[in-house]
Amino acid sequence: MLAIRYLGHSAFLLEAEGKTVAVDPFLRDNPMAAVGPEEIAPGTILLTHAHNDHVGDTIAIAKRTGAKVIATYELGQWLGRQGVAGAAPAAHGGTVTFDGGTVKLVPAWHTSSYFDGENDVAPGVPAGLVVRMGGATVYFAGDTCLFGDMRLIGEEGLDVAVLPIGDNFTMGPKDAARAVEFLGVKTVIPCHYNTEPAIRQDPEVFKRLVEEQPGVRCVVLAPGESHQV
Ligand code: NI
Ligand code: MN
Repeated sequence: MLAIRYLGHSAFLLEAEGKTVAVDPFLRDNPMAAVGPEEIAPGTILLTHAHNDHVGDTIAIAKRTGAKVIATYELGQWLGRQGVAGAAPAAHGGTVTFDGGTVKLVPAWHTSSYFDGENDVAPGVPAGLVVRMGGATVYFAGDTCLFGDMRLIGEEGLDVAVLPIGDNFTMGPKDAARAVEFLGVKTVIPCHYNTEPAIRQDPEVFKRLVEEQPGVRCVVLAPGESHQV
């Protein structure tokens, strides 16, 4: 059993067998955040890319909890230089083991950099995440457009896909619905919407659109809510 808890924007907390994993823990500056960064204590943090709305509070949380932080190479190296002892750089195609599961990095079409207040740093590339934990397989697309190789990612045998629907910076609802078809997944959780005006969406519109596909269920989570797999 895996609990997937939505923390708002693209931040999630995964819990299984007493292990806790945070995905893209953008909390302090996130107007949708269900919790503050000091309220979570993950043993592992998984990052899709370096943008501030994904790295978020990673450095502070990792320094406090000693979490392993799995990210694409340049971001992982940069986090290490910021004093994150558990930084674990990886790259697409690689599977990394963490306490309670594994993650395979897969492609995502987007950009990646962190703004440190003066400069864009930690350039690198974004990733999607195929997480295996608590007997479930969950795909976090990260920030991405629709792309045909989502069909290959679907061959990983996904129980749930977590997809951005905000448009502007990522897929919008129509392309996200096509992504569900490409992935062949039957449960989808939307994210990356309504955090700022540019990504305003009604998730119920996406739900109706995607549930036109046979057997597909869309689980719309309010920040703080969980879905059990
Ligand atoms: Ni981004
Ligand atoms: Mn983003």
